[in-house]
Amino acid sequence: MYTERVLSGMRPTGHLHLGHYHGVLKNWVKLQHEYECLFFVADWHALTTHYDSPEAIEQNVWDMVIDWLAAGVDPAHATMFIQSKVLEHAELHLLLSMSTPLGWLERVPTYKDQQEKLADKDLSTYGFLGYPLLMSADILIYRANQVPVGEDQVPHIEFTRELARRFNHFYGKEPGFEDKAKDAIKKLGSKKARLYEEFRTRFQQEGEQEALESAKALLNETQNLSLGDRERLFGYLEGGGKMILVEPQALLTEASKMPGLDGQKMSKSYNNVIALRETPDNVTKKIRTMPTDTNRVRRTDPGDPSRCPVWQFHQLYSNDDVKKWVVEGCTTAGIGCIECKQPVIEGVLKELAPIQERARQYEEDPTLVRSIVADGCEKARKLAGETMRDVREAMGLSYG
Ligand code: TRP
Ligand code: SF4
Repeated sequence: MYTERVLSGMRPTGHLHLGHYHGVLKNWVKLQHEYECLFFVADWHALTTHYDSPEAIEQNVWDMVIDWLAAGVDPAHATMFIQSKVLEHAELHLLLSMSTPLGWLERVPTYKDQQEKLADKDLSTYGFLGYPLLMSADILIYRANQVPVGEDQVPHIEFTRELARRFNHFYGKEPGFEDKAKDAIKKLGSKKARLYEEFRTRFQQEGEQEALESAKALLNETQNLSLGDRERLFGYLEGGGKMILVEPQALLTEASKMPGLDGQKMSKSYNNVIALRETPDNVTKKIRTMPTDTNRVRRTDPGDPSRCPVWQFHQLYSNDDVKKWVVEGCTTAGIGCIECKQPVIEGVLKELAPIQERARQYEEDPTLVRSIVADGCEKARKLAGETMRDVREAMGLSYG
């Protein structure tokens, strides 16, 4: 059984490119074999910045899901779903909003950054300010422990942790908690109870993170606990109350080494991408027309690979022999740029071939894609429903 749950989301930006593949998707494909994984389309998030142009979202959702599947995200190993089909995200967002200090939201670095960057849009909206809170709800509703994100999103995870702590502090208290927790410890049996106490002391007195992890592992492998006792024991480890919401960790994804065709970061807005479903002809054409070392004007001019975006592609796609051939050939004008690009073209095409083969299968069977996502939504709703039951109860809303 998995003890750790991974959750990540992506805004529906439509067709994905090699930057997404090397930066995010390859990692997801790996994680799905190591953790219980939930991946979702953050379509409501798209509306926080594109509320005035929602037309493109639907097509973007399906194009993106097909690209996930094409990249190797496997419905047998990962749950894929759409945020707006799990209404519980909205409910948790609302309930969390009651106690979220405005200052916390205003201080999230992306708030001002994005407003400045997207100056042509009016982002002085309630939804945009609340975007990190919606993201927190996305995470907390699945009690996800690990959230793979890029550097830019780390403050959002930290914000989520603070919210979870605040929530547990307000609503995790129950009358007689200490006594109930102690009773629950007894139910572990004497050997496990002793270990649990030892780990708890080591964590609380010495701050040993490892001891906390060991205690959690111990609880995770203990089968015969009631849900209530289980939560009490998790809560008692870290503080006073029941742990209703789980504090997630950021699972930092290394920045993609995939450059764009012009050597800048690969990004649709720079118009320098190779899409995962780019035709082989287009791939060839795009690489053939890539800029090279601008000092190498004539074939007879020697070049400098460190000034050339093609060289960055060789770092990803070529072995040492080829790289040696490039450096020698370029610096002595022994090879031409078109020649130099050939192994890159072959490398990219080879990488894309299995991805495009899978994409074709899903393109030809849209019903299959819909049903994979429908299954995922159902699983997600079930998990979200369990958390919401506890949240409503903790907030005194379980009447009626
Ligand atoms: N904010 C993320 C982004 O813009 C997408 C996202 C939304 C997300 N909710 C999430 C990522 C929850 C991880 C977990 O890239
Ligand atoms: Fe770039 Fe290769 Fe041309 Fe040198 S030979 S400038 S590395 S494309």
